[in-house]
Amino acid sequence: MRDVLARLAELQAGDLPVHGGRTLAYVYDSGLPEVDRIGREAVAAYAGSNGLDPTSFPSLLAMENDLVGFACDLLDAPDSAVGSVTSGGTESVLLAVQGARDSRPDVESPSMVVPSTVHAAFHKAAHYFGVSARVVPVGADFRADVAATAAGVDDSTVLVVGSAPSYAHGVVDDIPSLAALAAARGIRCHVDACIGGWVLPYAGRLGRSVPSWSFAVDGVTSISVDTHKYAYAPKGTSLLLHRSPELRRPQFFASADWPGYTMLNATMQSTKSGGPLAGAWAVVQHLGHEGYESLAAQVFEAVDRIAAGLPAGLHVVVPPDSTLLALATDGTSDAFTVCDEMRGRGWYVQPQMSYAGAAPTIHLSVSAATLACVDDLLADLGGSVEAAREAGPASVDEGVAAFIAALDPSALTDADFDGLLAASGLLADPSAGPTVGLVLPPRMAPVNAMLDLASPALREALLIAFLDRLQRPARG
Ligand SMILES: Cc1ncc(COP(=O)(O)O)c(C=O)c1O
Repeated sequence: MRDVLARLAELQAGDLPVHGGRTLAYVYDSGLPEVDRIGREAVAAYAGSNGLDPTSFPSLLAMENDLVGFACDLLDAPDSAVGSVTSGGTESVLLAVQGARDSRPDVESPSMVVPSTVHAAFHKAAHYFGVSARVVPVGADFRADVAATAAGVDDSTVLVVGSAPSYAHGVVDDIPSLAALAAARGIRCHVDACIGGWVLPYAGRLGRSVPSWSFAVDGVTSISVDTHKYAYAPKGTSLLLHRSPELRRPQFFASADWPGYTMLNATMQSTKSGGPLAGAWAVVQHLGHEGYESLAAQVFEAVDRIAAGLPAGLHVVVPPDSTLLALATDGTSDAFTVCDEMRGRGWYVQPQMSYAGAAPTIHLSVSAATLACVDDLLADLGGSVEAAREAGPASVDEGVAAFIAALDPSALTDADFDGLLAASGLLADPSAGPTVGLVLPPRMAPVNAMLDLASPALREALLIAFLDRLQRPARG
């Protein structure tokens, strides 16, 4: 048994670190070892419990109601509000869209109006549920264009969406205006606060200026907020809150039309581990409002110091409303190369491709734990910008660029994908066949530069082909 766990540790050593505040995407680190311990022990204690049936595992129901109650306090929810624990932000978003669609069976071809900065989970929901996404541009401040949203609404609209904040730029949309225009037409308005919902309320309590976005805003009908982000809970939970039980009703699913137990679910999963819920409950109970306020003070101090102390050649694309920063270079260095240089210095910062004519950016999701290493972060950003300037931009061979420009993603064959993956450096040895040989090159800038030339549709197709080749069975 020790061998297996030792092998597990060995495997995990190749992953991004989840502690230390140097991984600035994917993970959220409180920097408090006891928070991690409590979360881990609660997950382990409930790993085998089944959230399928709250009457058989009543402790899970009690923890869910506690967690939703805590979130209701946080998000200014009225007494009528209800909520469910889901597996993550994407599931919360999927259910918000599914619920909106199914609340309007009279609408034959439902649509939702979303800002272009909305999380990709809404496009997934559109794809899964046949709700067409009407994407409206954002203004120069990267916030949803309210007039364009109003213009996008018609009789087919079942949902209007805003973010608090958006992932890519970290700014909060004008929720009062979006909610008002939705309410005026009797349309649901969902606020995607997956990444900001647990930290913005504490920012307000700390006296920072925060735009209104919660249930305090009339017309907001549902909010998604992830506990596995800024509640610093173990991975695997998010909350979807509705202003009233009637609004949540279409989310429920029951089927008695088979010979087994009546399947009765509030969310997408049926059998689900009690572990993530117990982990989130334990961490939230342990930290409480006081703990979160103190962590928020730390994370915002880190954000302010990063934004104010950026090295020459880097700037924030827009002043952040929350804990996320989008950084752009001044053009003398290449953002993708800066990300590689940071990786070499022991950091993970996330490259964001160019979009709608805007240059690529560097995303930072700042954690409370990052505060302790802000000076190192700024120094290493400075060194990375310098090194990237010296290295020059990652270039794409002209022939490859022309080839990419001419490609039609819908007409590509598997052989084309193998060729493209090989050319991009993502497929180490295409002759070895599709089941082996995939490696990430040590420097991703040339790959990112190539992907950046591709249209979103081609990038999607290429990365799906890549994932398909990654997910092949490892056999004997
Ligand atoms: C605003 C927003 N919505 C939805 C999601 C999706 O959350 P998850 O990755 O937990 O599915 C994210 C993830 O970062 C997010 O930032």
